[in-house]
Amino acid sequence: MDSKNTSMMQRDLEVIWHPCTQMKDHETLPLIPIKSGKGVYLYDFEDNAYIDAVSSWWVNLFGHANPAINEKIKAQLDTLEHVLLAGFTHEPAVELAHKLVNITPTALKKVFYVDNGSSAVEAALKMSYHYHLNLGKRKPVFLSLTNSYHGETIGALSVGDVALYKETYEPLLIANIQVAVPKDQSQAAAAEALVTLEKLLKEKSDEIAAFILEPLIQGAGGMHMYHPDYLVGARALTRKYDVHLIADEIMTGFGRTGKMFACEHANISPDFMTLSKGLTGGYLPLSVVMTTDDVYNAFYCDYNEHKAFLHSHSYTGNPLACAAALATLEIFEQNDILGENEKKRQYIKTELEKFKMLKNVKEIRQQGMVTAIELKGYDAKERIGLRLYEYALTQGVLLRPLGHVIYFMPPYIINYEEIDKMVQVAYEGIQQL
Ligand SMILES: Cc1ncc(COP(=O)(O)O)c(C=O)c1O
Repeated sequence: MDSKNTSMMQRDLEVIWHPCTQMKDHETLPLIPIKSGKGVYLYDFEDNAYIDAVSSWWVNLFGHANPAINEKIKAQLDTLEHVLLAGFTHEPAVELAHKLVNITPTALKKVFYVDNGSSAVEAALKMSYHYHLNLGKRKPVFLSLTNSYHGETIGALSVGDVALYKETYEPLLIANIQVAVPKDQSQAAAAEALVTLEKLLKEKSDEIAAFILEPLIQGAGGMHMYHPDYLVGARALTRKYDVHLIADEIMTGFGRTGKMFACEHANISPDFMTLSKGLTGGYLPLSVVMTTDDVYNAFYCDYNEHKAFLHSHSYTGNPLACAAALATLEIFEQNDILGENEKKRQYIKTELEKFKMLKNVKEIRQQGMVTAIELKGYDAKERIGLRLYEYALTQGVLLRPLGHVIYFMPPYIINYEEIDKMVQVAYEGIQQL
């Protein structure tokens, strides 16, 4: 690596402990210091360009340094940068909450602001448990799907099921039961998994507060996908057995699955929906828990410290983040984003036909603007994901495989030429393994 990049990398490694990283890897694996971003591209200090094919951990929707979002944040900056949200409010938070209520499934009427994905999951779990308690029921257990991921804080980790992140912390976790996720995208797999779900709910629903799931796509679990029928069934069963349904749309929300929210594929309205990542177009940390009047009303009474939801974070509903979110929603309102994405999805699908001929490709999956290529024949110790990541960087593409699953989750503004490059680099990388 050249000098400007190298010196930045050295200064970084003196003081920064990076997320989700074995820091010793950086003795041989160079860090990529990024100086700027524009559109789908990230630029390092020597102006090497990288296509951000993973939308910077699935957050970016309309490109880096998007002029419309930049403008709205700058205007907000000169007006109000932050104010606490307890006892006070501000225009961006109010306007955004109204918009979210309008665009999310019908039963979701209230917005609780948080500031990152894991914290939204924590808040939803606490709210659900507390709701039942306020109604005189003690339900201290949560139900989730095998292979799920809901974040890294203790509660969120407890309802997740990716051993790599969870196993070490097992003694610290809260009570959680897991039920098998549908094994593939077929209707038959959904039907089979619903039978197991009903059996479990029949036995254990007395102790279960909520069933949390990632609708349609399990992201960190290797872009595992399942049929919307499962959501239809899970909604009906959770209602039947007095268990809340929490749709964690932190990754799937804001158009990723082909509709604005994944729940729309099944036409269901959950009791809670968690949103973050694309909410601000990938600009600033913000999250929300959306919930129903029924849940809200269970907390609404004369002051009683045990009944109120006394949960808070300092940066809850930050005005700059809300302004970024409003600008992001405005882009959806003014353009046919979902229609254009559908054309890109089909194009990517066609481009991927040739991957089927590669001997190490096990399966290709797609749902909206998420495409995954699962490889076969490798041992986890071989770290093929890392090898592909390194190769793609030399070719100017940021891919970040999840083990032996390579995926594309680019910003929606990616053009067809850039798609060609992203796909071709992945193809060559797989060929070379
Ligand atoms: C479905 C889902 N839930 C929760 C989270 C956690 O969000 P955050 O990383 O902002 O804490 C993630 C992050 O990838 C996610 O994909």
